[in-house]
Amino acid sequence: MSKHIVVFTGAGVSAESGLKTFRDSDGLWENYPIEEVATPEAWKRNPELVLEFYNLRRKQCMEAQPNEAHKLIAELEKYYKVTVITQNIDDLHERAGSSNVIHLHGEIMKVRSSVDENLIYPINKWNLELGEKCEKGSQLRPHIVWFGEPVPMMPVAIGITQTADIFIVVGSSLVVYPAASLLYYTKSGIPKYLIDPGEFSESVLREVIHIKKKATEGMRELFEILTKNVWV
Ligand code: OAD
Repeated sequence: MSKHIVVFTGAGVSAESGLKTFRDSDGLWENYPIEEVATPEAWKRNPELVLEFYNLRRKQCMEAQPNEAHKLIAELEKYYKVTVITQNIDDLHERAGSSNVIHLHGEIMKVRSSVDENLIYPINKWNLELGEKCEKGSQLRPHIVWFGEPVPMMPVAIGITQTADIFIVVGSSLVVYPAASLLYYTKSGIPKYLIDPGEFSESVLREVIHIKKKATEGMRELFEILTKNVWV
C-alpha cells in the first residue's frame, strides 16, 4: 500500500501562473475590500460589484495555465496516494492532472442558485450577469464560500487530513480559519512540510519543515526528496 500524501494549497501555488494572492502587497484584498465583494451582505447590497469581482477572477483563471508546482503535485500520484485540499477557487490542480481535489472555498468555474445551495452548475464562459437564473427562478451566484458562511467541505477535509502519512502545505499564509486548522489535525509525528517564501509564526514553524521558497522551486526540491527511494 502506498503512503497517503495530503497537499494543502493556497493562493501562493497559483502565483507563478499569474494569479494574484490575497494578502501579499498589491494582493486582491488590498484592491477590493473583503466586505465589499466577499460576504453575503455585499451580495445583498451590491450584487453587480460582487459579480464583477468574480467575473474577473474567472477570466484570469481561464487564461492561466498550471505551473510546474501544480504539475509536480499531480506527478506525485505515480508514487503515492495523493489528496489535494485547496483553498483556491481556480481549477489549475485539476488541469495539471490531480485526480483527487477538494475545494474548501468553492470553485470559480461553477455557479449556484442563491436559494438552493445544492443547485450547482458548471459555467464555461467568463461572465455571469444579473438576470441569469437557476431552474427555481433565482439569481445565480458564484459557487464560492464567502466570509461569514459555513465551510461545508471542512469535515471531509479533516477526515482526510487525519489519514495523512505526509502533509504538505504550499503557498498559504495559514491565517484563514477553519481551513488553516488542518495543520493541527494530522496524526502526531508525521513529516509536515511548508513551501512558502513568507514569514510564519513560531507556532506554525514548530509544526513544519519550512522550505522557504516559491512553489515551483520548493516543489522541485521536495519532489526529489519524496521520490528518491520510492519504487513505482
Ligand atoms: P494569502 O494571500 O493569505 O497567502 C498567500 C501565501 O502565498 C503567502 O504566505 C505568500 O508568502 C505565499 N506566496 C506568494 N507567492 C508565492 C509563490 N510564488 N510560491 C509560493 N507561495 C507564495 O492566500 P491564502 O493563504 O490562500 O478565502 O488565503 C486563504 C484564503 O483567504 C483564501 O482561500 C481566500 C482568502 O480570503 C476566501 O475568499 C474565502
